[in-house]
Amino acid sequence: MRLVILGPPGAGKGTQANEIVERYNIPHISTGDILRENIKKGTDLGLEAKKYMDQGNLVPDTLVLDLIQERISRADTKDGFLLDGFPRNVSQATSLDAELDKLGIKLDKVINIIVDPKKLIARATSRRVCPTCGETYNIVAKPPKVEGKCDKDGSDLIIRSDDTEETVSRRIEVYTEQTSPLIDYYKAQGTLFDVDGSQSIEQVTEDIFKGLNK
Ligand code: AP5
Ligand code: MG
Ligand code: ZN
Repeated sequence: MRLVILGPPGAGKGTQANEIVERYNIPHISTGDILRENIKKGTDLGLEAKKYMDQGNLVPDTLVLDLIQERISRADTKDGFLLDGFPRNVSQATSLDAELDKLGIKLDKVINIIVDPKKLIARATSRRVCPTCGETYNIVAKPPKVEGKCDKDGSDLIIRSDDTEETVSRRIEVYTEQTSPLIDYYKAQGTLFDVDGSQSIEQVTEDIFKGLNK
């Protein structure tokens, strides 16, 4: 299974990705997570990327393409992978196609999560994440058992620095302008299917599995 999960900020890509990678036993490759990891470690890539991420803008393609190229050529991707947050514009999608061509493989499916834009800001601003294990919570839809603490390891939950109302609005704009053209791009390839992401987390997961099994 070689998959891409597509959708605007706060659509539930990361949340659903966790279920999918568990079911299919494939690595979850999130460019956002990899960039945040680099920021945490203080690498050159992290320092450069942070400037763009804090503004809600895309990090330049060259930085992301190098990282993806290295990641999808690792041994753990031989049975597949799930890309989350990549590609982010048509130029990244054509680069990915060229890279997959070189490896003699292609994408099987692209999951397109659709959510009413009005809901997205509320979802992102009520998100909480665990800095230790990366688990995502939501104070409304998916609260932790103990307020402010991760269910898995008890760490204090944090708010992503780009989850302010202002930055989320900008990220939604960037999605509409630069990322949403990928819907037609993948429709033309015949790999894309839509999922209604405004349903409960469990129902969205069920619909994704139905789409993947077709
Ligand atoms: P990235 O980390 O990819 O962020 P994003 O696309 O903005 O998406 P999010 O992670 O915010 O949302 P999600 O869809 O994963 O939702 P989640 O499951 O957490 O990118 C961040 C930045 O990195 C970018 O702005 C850019 O600067 C840079 N970047 C990354 N990749 C790049 C690339 N390829 N090129 C250039 N730059 C790049 O859910 C959100 C919340 O809603 C959670 O609290 C969750 O619990 C809740 N929730 C989920 N599903 C439901 C549901 N069905 N009902 C109710 N609540 C729900
Ligand atoms: Mg995410
Ligand atoms: Zn945790």
